[in-house]
Amino acid sequence: MDVPKPKTNHPHESTWDDHGNTKWTYVSDEAKQRIGFFLRRRLGGRNLDIGGGWYLHYPNSAVVDLSSVCLANNPAQEKVQFDLDELHNGKRLPFPDYSFDSATMISTWQYLEHPDALLDELKRVLKPGAEVYVINGQNAGREGCILGIGNTKGIAEHLQTKGFDTLIEHIPFGNDTLTFQSVCFSIPERDLFGSVSEVRDKAKRKRADERIVREPEIFEDDFINYELGIRRGLLAKLNPYPVTAYSQDFLARTEEFGKALKRAGIDAVIYAEHTPEVEVDMLLPNQHSSCFLALFDRFSGVDKYVEQRREQDDLIQTLSIAHGVFFPTNTSDLNMGSKEDLLRNCKEFDLDERNAECSLRTYADFVASVGMTSGTRRLQAQVQSILRKRASNFDEVVRRQKAFGYNMLTAQFKQERSIADLLLIKQRVERGEIPSVGQKNLDYQTYLHLMERWIRVNDCETSMGDFD
Ligand SMILES: C[S@@+](CC[C@H](N)C(=O)[O-])C[C@H]1O[C@@H](n2cnc3c(N)ncnc32)[C@H](O)[C@@H]1O
Repeated sequence: MDVPKPKTNHPHESTWDDHGNTKWTYVSDEAKQRIGFFLRRRLGGRNLDIGGGWYLHYPNSAVVDLSSVCLANNPAQEKVQFDLDELHNGKRLPFPDYSFDSATMISTWQYLEHPDALLDELKRVLKPGAEVYVINGQNAGREGCILGIGNTKGIAEHLQTKGFDTLIEHIPFGNDTLTFQSVCFSIPERDLFGSVSEVRDKAKRKRADERIVREPEIFEDDFINYELGIRRGLLAKLNPYPVTAYSQDFLARTEEFGKALKRAGIDAVIYAEHTPEVEVDMLLPNQHSSCFLALFDRFSGVDKYVEQRREQDDLIQTLSIAHGVFFPTNTSDLNMGSKEDLLRNCKEFDLDERNAECSLRTYADFVASVGMTSGTRRLQAQVQSILRKRASNFDEVVRRQKAFGYNMLTAQFKQERSIADLLLIKQRVERGEIPSVGQKNLDYQTYLHLMERWIRVNDCETSMGDFD
């Protein structure tokens, strides 16, 4: 998307446009999802998301942001481009009085020149008693932090000086309870004695928060169950799924390609890695995932062979060609083994050796992949049958790696899940827009409980970012 000319007078509008353009983010998707989960348990009704950027943390939100590009990428229904610093000059948000049941402000406080003007406006557009959640990483935006308050405690103290009742709650990210915190404050209501700000159920929530800080796994377990529920629902929607006519044609051509390579003296294995079979079965032209690999043992002739045919053969263009074999070897000649080397290494595999776990995962990854030629599938079966005897947990490791494929299919990345594309293809097949050759059942039930380990922060080895 082209970044448009600034529409406000704010000096940083283009910078935020740039961030919105690439959906750049300061915290990992996993952290954002946990923040969203935290909010879903607290909000109900219509929410105002202030400085929402391109990410929608709570579905029933109207989003206000400086950047039209961020807003264009935000899936919210209701979006308004607005420079919040203009509130200080008397401008008003384009919403009637008492429009919202709550407001959220995630990593935005520190960029506002005049947050106090926003507080006054919130008293107008929010219903009396509504709660506002200001969520930040700690020491967030040190450079951009205009009031010099970059952490939750400081923001809470500032809000208290303005007469708001506040409550700090923690949003664990794995075992880390310090990075993401929320300060909730309440818009004053009138009672007999005047105007009072009072956070709902404060004592009870405080106790619950203290427990979360002591045992963050309670939060993580709840999040995992919630997330697994979403994934189960999506996979159930795809079941049964249609097999596209194109996928069958593609597989037939891949088989032929493998044979042609063999005739040219090149022994290849071709497989789709980290991909459940459904992704291969539902292939469409120009919609190949990037995970098709071709591994060659005598690979010196491959480049030339592929180059000569690249122009004519769209199949070659879709394969990402890996040079050499990325399997653990017992020699120093890494990455260059032949199929015979691979089988020999499997036979000599020793669970007690250093890095054995890691090697086992690499073999399991291969076995868990979708073999795209009969020769590849034969080799996968051979590797599996040898390693089963060498490591009693091999089949379990293979299942875990298959679950990783389902995790990749259903995980949220930049607020999208790739399974959504498959659900769309299914609909198009049902409408008769795409030819299919039959249906298959998804075997996801076996893998659901194993997906959990990939969703867990400590297992998925995702890097945790911090707010800038
Ligand atoms: C760090 S991003 C956070 C975005 C989003 N809340 C999230 O958690 O992904 C800060 C957002 O505040 C918006 N913003 C900064 N200054 C603003 C202003 N004066 N008025 C409105 N929005 C502003 C930016 O455009 C940006 O989208």
